[in-house]
Amino acid sequence: MINQIADQIKQLKKEKDVCILAHCYQSENILEVADFVGDSFALSQRAAEVPQKNVLMCGVRFMAETVKILSPEKRVFLSSPDAGCPMAEQLDPEMLSDLKKSYPEHTVVAYINTTAELKTLCDVCVTSSSAVKIVNNIDNDKILFVPDCNLGDYIARQIPQKQIKLIHGGCPTHVRMTVNDVKKKKELYPDALLLVHPECTPDVVKLADYVGSTTGIMDYAEKSDNKSFIIGTENSIVEHLQVKCPDKMFYPLSKDCVCHNMKLTTIVDVLNCLKGTYGEEIFLDEQTIKDARRSIDEMLRLG
Ligand code: 13P
Ligand code: SF4
Repeated sequence: MINQIADQIKQLKKEKDVCILAHCYQSENILEVADFVGDSFALSQRAAEVPQKNVLMCGVRFMAETVKILSPEKRVFLSSPDAGCPMAEQLDPEMLSDLKKSYPEHTVVAYINTTAELKTLCDVCVTSSSAVKIVNNIDNDKILFVPDCNLGDYIARQIPQKQIKLIHGGCPTHVRMTVNDVKKKKELYPDALLLVHPECTPDVVKLADYVGSTTGIMDYAEKSDNKSFIIGTENSIVEHLQVKCPDKMFYPLSKDCVCHNMKLTTIVDVLNCLKGTYGEEIFLDEQTIKDARRSIDEMLRLG
């Protein structure tokens, strides 16, 4: 049955000139029908390069918005209209404008996990894989980093010479993993390396053998000579790694690390989007696209 749906999707996307992009936190059957799978940075770049006139984003809203910002001439669809990102939406433009007034000398750096509206107010965006490099390359030692204080803390530790102002907040999925989870898993699997995402809390990050984006974690595990790994990010990565590397063992740091929003998209949603009976087309006004694009272009220039 799933195979039949996948075949229909593959046929329809060709007929309708649709490129399907999937974030790595999507489930295995969505990756199977996607043209491109990646982390936020790779998806944001790939979106602008694909030849198709239509793009279907299997991920969350800010990712579909980023595709629209980079490719305004394309029709961009979000596979599941309810799939937001609580972190991306935790600040509104008014709150950020107030913060900017309090820190007028700071360069405003936003994690790409922010709404298009917020991007219009930022100087530069970063992704988890490019953050340290980009902040390092900014020609200002005073940085206001929004909205993830955990990623911000990780950057600040790598670049102690910069003053990085953080605001409270973060990813509700990654903050669920605790030092206690690390202790328990290390006891169970003493030879396993701990690989974590920088959205985890600093006390968890400090215990890690490797810290990186979702694809950073996957590349590290694939290339490592080690045979077992404790994975401190969304649990779909545990599954994808186990499929990719059947001779290695992967354990979730916590079974709780599941992003409900990323898991809203089902294979049937993808089919229905292609049929035009589900999903949402993303519309952004010209000014928002222009202003938000500035911060993404700056990210690509500095990264
Ligand atoms: P990356 O894909 O940049 O690693 O980000 C993880 C994430 O939380 C995406 O929502
Ligand atoms: Fe947002 Fe966290 Fe889910 Fe990523 S994992 S989409 S940052 S809530």
